[in-house]
Amino acid sequence: MNKILTISHLYKKYQSGFEALKDINLEISKGEIFALLGQNGAGKTTLISIICGIVNPSSGQILVDGKDIIHDYRIARSLIGLVPQEVSTDAFETVWNTVSFSRGLYGKPSNPELIEKILRELSLWDKRDSKIMTLSGGMKRRLMIAKALSHEPKILFLDEPTAGVDVSLRRDMWGLVRDLKNMGTTVILTTHYIEEAEEMADRIGIIRKGELILVEDKKSLMKKLGKKELTLQLQTPLDAIPHELHIPGLMLSQDKFELTYTFDLNSNQIGIAELLQKLNENGVVFKDLHTKQSSLEEIFVSLVNEGVNGHAV
Ligand SMILES: Nc1ncnc2c1ncn2[C@@H]1O[C@H](COP(=O)(O)OP(=O)(O)OP(=O)(O)O)[C@@H](O)[C@H]1O
Ligand SMILES: [Mg+2]
Repeated sequence: MNKILTISHLYKKYQSGFEALKDINLEISKGEIFALLGQNGAGKTTLISIICGIVNPSSGQILVDGKDIIHDYRIARSLIGLVPQEVSTDAFETVWNTVSFSRGLYGKPSNPELIEKILRELSLWDKRDSKIMTLSGGMKRRLMIAKALSHEPKILFLDEPTAGVDVSLRRDMWGLVRDLKNMGTTVILTTHYIEEAEEMADRIGIIRKGELILVEDKKSLMKKLGKKELTLQLQTPLDAIPHELHIPGLMLSQDKFELTYTFDLNSNQIGIAELLQKLNENGVVFKDLHTKQSSLEEIFVSLVNEGVNGHAV
């Protein structure tokens, strides 16, 4: 079996009586990047917290690499790394100590070479002796990832890794997740941003009011969504689109402050990553970007219209 995570008939009812998860069934393969999309309060953190043993399930079963999260709690937990939604660390501790200590918590022998490798990969090596309170928000987030990787987990959970993170750091984070995948780690992340799921995930799950209403291969989901529009707000206005950037679908707004790229995901047009690369090469600097048809609401609407899997949404 190449399944690293199997969730069967999982239910969660909080003490308040609120039903946060209803009959969740999901299988994740080794090495996969899975994005869980859902609006505020949909149940994403609840699901992750149950898998990581922080919240008790009401019923159902979860196996992590074949180990039951309740009966084989310690083994199952040691296979998991969690980067929680809320950043919380000891402000007075150093980066190096925090990450080393975290490894020790899992009973793993100290391994300075590994800690160094992790800190270097996360661009935190120069900050190894700094106290956490002196780090920027983005660095703190990377530190949380370093902590979660310190005991060499097989699955990494990232609960909204890029919420409130600026555009360039968000792209760094995407690159990092790809590197982790290349190293064989399975990554499960939650997000509100469809473009984030689109950039990274192999498969996407959509959770709504505690129900997993759709799980699908990203490519086939994106095909269903069809045309999209990317808008880039420029740092400085352009007189005209440079010759090297005469790409089908790319247009300059009348006020010269915005570039829009209309593209059909089913066509042979270049992708967003390639477009951004080309803009970069040609010195076009933008301060923000967003895609239309990017809200979950719109995706839900298009799902309803198409009646995917016969689910009523
Ligand atoms: N301890 C708790 N007791 C009662 N209800 C809770 C508890 N924790 C969460 N909930 C409720 O469960 C639902 C799901 O919350 P959860 O944090 O899992 O959502 P989420 O999808 O992670 O949302 P967000 O995108 O805002 O992080 C919400 O309605 C929330 O109010
Ligand atoms: Mg959450």
